[in-house]
Amino acid sequence: MNFDEARAQFPILEHTAYLNAGSMGPLARATVEAMVEQERSDLRGRGMQPYYEQMRSLRGTVRAGIARTIGVPPENVALTSSTTEGCNIVAAGLRLRPDDEIVTSDTEHFGLLGALNASGAQVRVARVRGIPAERALESILAEVTPKTRLIALSHISWQTGNALPVEEIQEATDVPILVDGAQSVGAVAVEAARFDFYTASGQKWLCGPDATGGLYVRDPESLHVASPTFFSQDGYDDDGTFTPKAGAARFDGGWIPPASLAGLDAALGTVPHWAAHHAAELAARCWTRLADRFQVVTAPGQATLVSFVPEGDPAAVSARLGEQGIVIRDMPGTDWVRVSCGWWTSDGDVDRLLDAL
Ligand SMILES: Cc1ncc(COP(=O)(O)O)c(C=O)c1O
Repeated sequence: MNFDEARAQFPILEHTAYLNAGSMGPLARATVEAMVEQERSDLRGRGMQPYYEQMRSLRGTVRAGIARTIGVPPENVALTSSTTEGCNIVAAGLRLRPDDEIVTSDTEHFGLLGALNASGAQVRVARVRGIPAERALESILAEVTPKTRLIALSHISWQTGNALPVEEIQEATDVPILVDGAQSVGAVAVEAARFDFYTASGQKWLCGPDATGGLYVRDPESLHVASPTFFSQDGYDDDGTFTPKAGAARFDGGWIPPASLAGLDAALGTVPHWAAHHAAELAARCWTRLADRFQVVTAPGQATLVSFVPEGDPAAVSARLGEQGIVIRDMPGTDWVRVSCGWWTSDGDVDRLLDAL
C-alpha cells in the first residue's frame, strides 16, 4: 500500500487537515463499513449461539491484533474500553496500602492520575515539565524510595509531546512499571514486553471505534482481579468465588459491542508497514517548520505530537483553524496548542496549518 492509497482510506482527509489523533484518530471507510455490517447482522438477531460464537471469535482476533501491535503474546492482553480502564485495573489490582507509594510525573493525563489516586497509596509526583527532556530520568528516579510499589508514566506526554524515559527507568529499578500508552500505541513502534503493564487506547492512533483498548500484563497471576466481569472467569461458586481465566483475559472489561470489535479489527488492518516511519518523518518536518516561526514546547526528535505557543489565545486559534478545516487542539491550563501527525498525514496538511497560522 503506497501513501496515496493509505491516505485515501480516510474520507475526512479529502477536505480536512485532520491533526488531532492525540484526541481521536480519523476513521477509515473500512472501519465504519465493518461496524455497519456487524450492526446489520445484529438486526437479524442477537443472543443466539452463532452470535455468541462470532463475538468470542472477534474478541480473540482483536486481542491478537493489539498484541501484535505492541509486540507481546495475546495471552498477556486484556480487552478494555480505554487506557483509563487499563490504569484502573492495574492500580486497584496491586492492592496498595496507605503507606505504599507510587511515583508518577507532572505531565500525566487524569486517565492515569485518577486511578493512581484511587488506589489509596501515596502518589509522589516527579517534575518533568519545564525541565530539559534529558533530565526527566534523574527527576523521576529521585522520587523512588523503598516504599515505591509502582512507577506509572505515560510513554509520550499528551501535553508536551515529549517521550518519557520509560525504558531507562525499567532498566534502572526493580519496581513494577505501568506505561500509559495512549499517545504511543499506533503512533510510534512499541515493544511493550519489557514492561510490567502497558495500556493502549483504540480510538486514538489505532483509528478504532470509541471505547476500545487493551492492557498488557506481563505476569497476570501476580495481579489481583479487582473488577471481575463475566469474561474474567472459567467457573464460579454460589458465593462468587471464581476460577480466573488463564492469562490476562481475566482482566477483560465487560461486554464490548461486536460492532466495535469488528471496527477495531478492520482499523488494525488499515495500517501500512511503513506507518511508524512515515509518522516520525512527518512529525519531524512539522516540528522544524513550526520552530522557524513559533516557540515549540516539544523537544526535537520526540514522537508524533508537536506542542507550540501560537500567536493569540490557544482556544481561539484552534477554533479559528477548525473553521478553516484544520483540526488541532489547545491544551487546557497552558498557552499551547498541539498538533498530531499520523501515518496518514501529508506535507500538504502541514502546509495548510502553517498558512493558516
Ligand atoms: C496520555 C493519556 N492517557 C490517558 C488518556 C485517556 O485515554 P482513554 O480515553 O483511552 O482512557 C489520554 C487521552 O487523551 C491520554 O492522552
